[in-house]
Amino acid sequence: MLVLGIETSCDETGVALYHSERGLLAQALHSQIDLHQQHGGVVPELASRDHVRKALPMIDALLQEANVKATDINGVAYTAGPGLIGALLVGASLGRALAMGWGVPALGVHHMEGHLLAPMLEQNPPEFPFVALLVSGGHTQLVDVEGIGRYRLLGESVDDAAGEAFDKTAKLLGLPYPGGPAIAKIAEQGRAGQYEFPRPMVNRPGLDFSFSGLKTYAKNAIAQHGAPEQLSEQTRADLALAFEQAVVSTLCIKCRRALQQTGRKRLVIAGGVSANRRLRHDLGATLEKLNAELFYARPEFCTDNGAMIALAGALRLVAGQHDGSAIEVFPRWPLTDLAALQA
Ligand code: KG4
Ligand code: ZN
Repeated sequence: MLVLGIETSCDETGVALYHSERGLLAQALHSQIDLHQQHGGVVPELASRDHVRKALPMIDALLQEANVKATDINGVAYTAGPGLIGALLVGASLGRALAMGWGVPALGVHHMEGHLLAPMLEQNPPEFPFVALLVSGGHTQLVDVEGIGRYRLLGESVDDAAGEAFDKTAKLLGLPYPGGPAIAKIAEQGRAGQYEFPRPMVNRPGLDFSFSGLKTYAKNAIAQHGAPEQLSEQTRADLALAFEQAVVSTLCIKCRRALQQTGRKRLVIAGGVSANRRLRHDLGATLEKLNAELFYARPEFCTDNGAMIALAGALRLVAGQHDGSAIEVFPRWPLTDLAALQA
């Protein structure tokens, strides 16, 4: 089955063609970073308008590149939530219209299920069951995964998501949006031990996270130097490193606890923050001690992309699942509400 995937939930337009037997055939991504950077964050109305401009020409180019005719496509998958309502409506309207025109089924995909399954696009895909750490700009969750749609929430952030903490702290440090890659880059020049950020909630039992205190700690540390503009490059790098270490070590502690608690031997990390090299490295070391295996996607499939939506959609469409003809989106949509796919 050949499935067209469309991702428009936030600030990237992603399209892809995934074949249930042959795998990923083609994918394309347009990032709106330049559009939003001058505003220091995503402006929803600008995001929607840009998706309208880019999505259809990108699909045309994708079909040409893959040498696929519209009549070869057997299903359409689009992100139906969670995300920005206007941006979601662009992809959902387009996805439903194309499916109706082509006479094929269409399915609204959960964006975080797309992230969670993205490591299955790689050479050595994880087998079920596993624990998943979902770390994106909007979510930080630990989920026990028994199969597709069989999700049990183990813990989540009670305030800021991990990616959001990166973005907000980067802003305080005068770094550009998105903050994750910017902090990771300058942290390479940082000197360890200059600052010691707290590790929030690690001394309490349970698997919830809290990251908003790190932002406050950064604000106070910066204030000691006067204004943010007065920070030297070295101090900025030292702070970036200490912040990154605090987030990564907090995530490592909670992942170890989740594996011990569930008895699982596989951990999947997904979402934009899973592209972070320090996180991948430190988790690798943590899991080695536990005799457990770590799985993640290549960096371009950790952040938002169309391939993960085409894959998640294909897995469900092949099983016979699809939606009615109404155009429906869900800006807030708990992952645990999803229907289980029968194995
Ligand atoms: O999954 P994603 O592309 O979008 C959402 O669904 O939110 O995640 C975006 C988030 C941003 O907060 C960004 O700063 C963060 O992922 N991010 C990173 C890195 N690359 C992206 N955070 C830390 N290190 C990175 N290398
Ligand atoms: Zn995402």
